[in-house]
Amino acid sequence: MEYSTLLISIENNIALITINRPDKLNALNKITIKELSAALQLLEKDKKIRAILITGQGEKAFVAGADISEFADYTVKEGTKLAGKGQKSLFDLLANLSTPVIALVNGFALGGGLELAMACHFRIASTNAKMGLPEVSLGVIPGYGGTQRLPQLIGKGRAMEMIMTASMIDAQKAYSFGLVNHVVPQDELLSFGQKVALTICKNSPVAISYAIKAVNAGFINNVNGYKTEIDAFGKCFGTKDFKEGTTAFLAKRKAKFPGA
Ligand code: COA
Repeated sequence: MEYSTLLISIENNIALITINRPDKLNALNKITIKELSAALQLLEKDKKIRAILITGQGEKAFVAGADISEFADYTVKEGTKLAGKGQKSLFDLLANLSTPVIALVNGFALGGGLELAMACHFRIASTNAKMGLPEVSLGVIPGYGGTQRLPQLIGKGRAMEMIMTASMIDAQKAYSFGLVNHVVPQDELLSFGQKVALTICKNSPVAISYAIKAVNAGFINNVNGYKTEIDAFGKCFGTKDFKEGTTAFLAKRKAKFPGA
């Protein structure tokens, strides 16, 4: 499939999605959101793809937010629809994707950009990265899940401060908050991300998809995450991956999971 705002490459069962609007600091306009949603759905269906990396083109930005020029004159109805549609079609889809997705935060991740990174399963940043939710400086609030995912990741007090001050934090602070898992020099970000993804690829893709589901269940209101875990745990016993994983262990050889 051809994309006008994304570059996609595949190597060693790992897909790399690069958001490619560098002259607008990779801001998420409607077409980018639509293309990201379509690309993620296609990649998820491809069982050869065992991990997905998302980054931004250029050295300056991961994604500098939703495209402000598109919503500056929106009405209440249009604003509500923008957030609702965006959350469903991209941010929730991403958070619940059965294939692991890692954000490689290579520069500014602001507003919708940080929300995109937070919807990924985890994040790795380069030393120059800067993160923030500056929406209140524009007279609006985060609308792509930021008011929910930021407190989940760094705690309510820190999230309140970041949201109220609209300030950016640097990569080291993001690391100390647990917002990113690693900080590496910019020219090593991709190779480091690929290394982490390769480690993931050694494991059972079916078990990983159940683990994503069980972890996410704990963050959904009225869903008992422990119960989801029990059900998902049980289902693993009926999979070929489980037979292969346990058989390989007992035979003292490395497991070979399908797709790899
Ligand atoms: N939406 C639309 N366009 C954006 C954008 C966004 N979120 N972020 C950056 N751009 C555009 C700029 O308008 C500029 O376009 P132009 O060259 O056609 O004028 C281009 O990207 C480069 O940005 P610029 O502001 O000139 O770069 P800078 O280095 O001076 O500043 C930032 C970088 C990230 C601090 C600044 O671009 C910024 O504050 N962006 C908005 C961040 C934001 O509020 N995001 C939340 C949106 S809800």
